[in-house]
Amino acid sequence: MAQKVGLPEVRERVGASHGITDLARKLHFYNGWAPDYDQDVAALQYRAPSLAVDCLIRASSALPQPALILDVACGTGLVAVEVHGVDGSPGMLEQARARGLYQNLSLCTLGQEPLPSPEGTYDAVLMVGALSEGQVPCSAVTELLRVTKPGGLVCLTTRTNPSNLLFKEALETTLQGLEEAGAWERLAAWPVDRWELATAEQEVVTSNDANDIGFISGIIYLYRKQEAAQAPGTRPSPQPLASDPTCIDPSC
Ligand SMILES: C[S@@+](CC[C@H](N)C(=O)[O-])C[C@H]1O[C@@H](n2cnc3c(N)ncnc32)[C@H](O)[C@@H]1O
Repeated sequence: MAQKVGLPEVRERVGASHGITDLARKLHFYNGWAPDYDQDVAALQYRAPSLAVDCLIRASSALPQPALILDVACGTGLVAVEVHGVDGSPGMLEQARARGLYQNLSLCTLGQEPLPSPEGTYDAVLMVGALSEGQVPCSAVTELLRVTKPGGLVCLTTRTNPSNLLFKEALETTLQGLEEAGAWERLAAWPVDRWELATAEQEVVTSNDANDIGFISGIIYLYRKQEAAQAPGTRPSPQPLASDPTCIDPSC
């Protein structure tokens, strides 16, 4: 059982992890962190998993029922509904397995290995909290697209705090390049101000309280993979999202 630690220790631990840019070291860190991960990110008020699931639920009219979903870089399973999961850390997978919610879990290091699924397997693929320096590289996004069914959804998140802005820029270039190539269309990009508590003052983007270390921001992207080639005039028109796609963050 993980021992409860205070917010300053959590900030120190998570802040130190943000400085790890080597993938093998980062995955080693996650292995050690796995038993404490859920309680630590709860202390940081990390909301990305529930926000990304919200985002998919809003677009669920575009999904078949039941839908087959892949959670890439699933971690301990905070995103799990009834899904398959993939992660590069055996320790994180052990925690996800203990949750008992995934139908299937696989060890896979994105950026070094292909996802262990044939092309066009999933109705939706999501990856939360793993696109940043030293974790999942931007180039792995095409692998997520490969395992998504034609017309299926891909939901991605990244942080938009100062130290992740260069990565975010490179990610957006990749996302846009795929859109220009006709591989998918963007349904939404939702900026979220209160993503999680900052681990260092210089990462804070919004704070009203001088004594509050404040929150960092993040963003959720939702894409629809292009449909399989169809006879002209028979392509279904894009489904509108259930509500305003500009922002799902109750605080903005
Ligand atoms: C911040 S955690 C996010 C976990 C979960 N998605 C969530 O939001 O709670 C990042 C996860 O990505 C995994 N990860 C990082 N880089 C990876 C890679 N290249 N391939 C596979 N998994 C990776 C880590 O092991 C870790 O479980």
